[in-house]
Order: sequence, then structure tokens, then C-alpha cells
Amino acid sequence: MTIEESTFGHTKENKEVSLFKLSNGFEMKVEILNYGGIIKNIFVPDRYGKVEDVVLGHDDILGYEEKSDYFGCIAGRFANRINQGRFYINGTQFQLPQNSNGNSLHGGVKGFDKQVWEAQVFNRGKEVGVSLFYLSKDGEEDYPGNMKCWVTYTLDNSNQLRIEYRAETDKTTIVNLTNHTYFNLKDGGETNILDHNLRIYASHYTPVDSNLIPFGTLDSVEDTPFDFREFAPIGDKIDQEHTQLVNGGGYDHNFVLDKNNGECNLIASVYEPISGRMLEVLTTEPGIQFYSGNFLKGDIVGKNNVPYEYRSGLCLETQHFPDSPNHKQFPSTILNPGEQFESTTIYKFGVEP
Ligand code: BGC
Repeated sequence: MTIEESTFGHTKENKEVSLFKLSNGFEMKVEILNYGGIIKNIFVPDRYGKVEDVVLGHDDILGYEEKSDYFGCIAGRFANRINQGRFYINGTQFQLPQNSNGNSLHGGVKGFDKQVWEAQVFNRGKEVGVSLFYLSKDGEEDYPGNMKCWVTYTLDNSNQLRIEYRAETDKTTIVNLTNHTYFNLKDGGETNILDHNLRIYASHYTPVDSNLIPFGTLDSVEDTPFDFREFAPIGDKIDQEHTQLVNGGGYDHNFVLDKNNGECNLIASVYEPISGRMLEVLTTEPGIQFYSGNFLKGDIVGKNNVPYEYRSGLCLETQHFPDSPNHKQFPSTILNPGEQFESTTIYKFGVEP
């Protein structure tokens, strides 16, 4: 178990950004930046032992600042969309910046993904990691309350990357935190992810309008292209004439997880048949946004000069449901002073024959 720290570069505002290389001695290496809490690389073996990077991203900080579609980052203070950026707390209206098609997306113009976090490394022998801290000030991106946020990445000796989130506020606010890594278990983004097999333990999902805002209903996945309760190739039904696939431009939907008891349950798996790589996702969160990279279109050139083409990466964003503040029936995203927001997600890697 080792952890190394080095300087990755400087932001345009001349803030120094550090790179943390976590290695577990079992051929898994994870590289993390304190800019945006970004997971820059995840190196894992395929079934023949070939170790390769399986996530999309950039080789330099400028790439992340200028040409990133939230690659690898922590999205916050409120991940995903809020309808017209508007919500109410105890009758008081709050208006967030409308940074995506009239809606708020992933925390606004300068969300948690674009901040430089304080970082502290640790090595406990059986696991290594880095703890990140960011203070989001009262009024930042028009959210109420000073919110302290801690995100800890831990790599252990069973090829698990654990992400623990914690937050506190001094005024009632809203919070929804996720990691926005794009995975491509075959080649890190050189080709598309349509042959990846996906399983999500969810009998329901939250259908959306053409602006990707949920109606507030929970629809059954039964007999729809959204039924991933058994492994299915992502590409099988993605182009069906289903209204929800049309609205999402493919999969860009929140799945309502069947197991939601506060424990860190196995809720999704991805298997890529050529490499044999398997990713299992465990979380304490009630939902997961499965995004099939429909907005990638080849104009972002990432690591090793690879242009990220249409659907070359997939995101599995564990979180509360989109637009929760405007849907009382959804699990609450309100955080009050004196309360702790806590959430854990694990990405566990392995291979299948
Ligand atoms: C959203 C997509 C969005 C993407 C931006 C995802 O979390 O669901 O709609 O385009 O983030 O990278």
C-alpha cells in the first residue's frame, strides 16, 4: 500500500493542484486530484492480468478546466438537475444559476467539480487514501448556508475504491453529492460502451421530460428498455423508439434502488466481455443515475490524445433523485444545522473468466 503526492499543475487562477497516486500492491492504482476531487485514472487488470486505465479524463489541468464534461469529479452542492434552478425551503424561494438549458446542473457555474479542495493523505497499512475538504460559503452559487464538505477516497487490498461523503451546514440547505466518473472497462474510452453488460437492482426509475427533469412519478422497468435487473448489453435497446430514451438521448435516468436501508448494498454491476473486467457498485444512496455518455461527441480530446466519441463512457452516479427539492415524495435532500449528511459508495473491481 503506497500513496504518493506530486504537483499536477496550476489552475488558471494560479492555484496549485496536487495529484495523489494510490496503489494497493494488487495491481490496482487510483489517481486523484484535489481539483474537483477528480478521479483521474483507475488502473485495473483485465482477465489476462493486463493493467489498463478504465476511466475518461485529461492529462493536464487545463483540459479539466476548459474541456471537461464533469470527468471523474465530485458533483455538488447539488448533483444532477433542479428544475429551472428553483426550489423552496420553508416557503422561501431560492434561485440558482440556470447553467444547463434553463435548469441548474451539478451545482451551478462553479460547482464542487471546479474547486480546489484541501487534502490530507493517510496510510493505514491495509488501505490508503486521501481526505478532501471544501467549505462552500453561504451564498456560493446562490445556495444558502456555509456548508462544510468532506470526501474521502480509500483504496483497499481487495480492489475496492470507497468514497465517503460528509457534510454539515449552518443554515438549512440542500445537498446531493456524487462522483461523476466515466467508465469504459474495455479501453478507457477509445471505443463505445455499448457492449458493456449492465445490471441494476432497480424495479423502478424516474421518467423525465425532454429537459431531463423528472415528472415525480416512479415507473416500473418491467417490459421496458430500463429493465436491467438481469445483465443486459447497454446497446441492446438504447436506440428503441421509447419516449424515455428519446427524452434522454439514450440512458440518462435515475433508477430507484430496490435495496435502500441505509446500508452499503450492492446495487449495480458492469461486465465487459472482451476484457473480462467487472465493476460492482455499492452504495447507501437511494438512487443511481445511469448516463450512457450521450452528450459526448468526439470534440473533447482526452488522455493520450483520445477523442471521446459518442457513448465512449458510462457514468453510474449514486445519489438522491434529480430535482428532489421540488418533489416531496422523493427522499429528502434537506440538510439542517446540527445534522450530518453521510453517504458511502464503493466501486469494486474484479474479473470474470
Ligand atoms: C447528466 C447528463 C449530463 C452529464 C454532464 C450527467 O450526470 O445526467 O444529463 O449531460 O451529467 O456530464
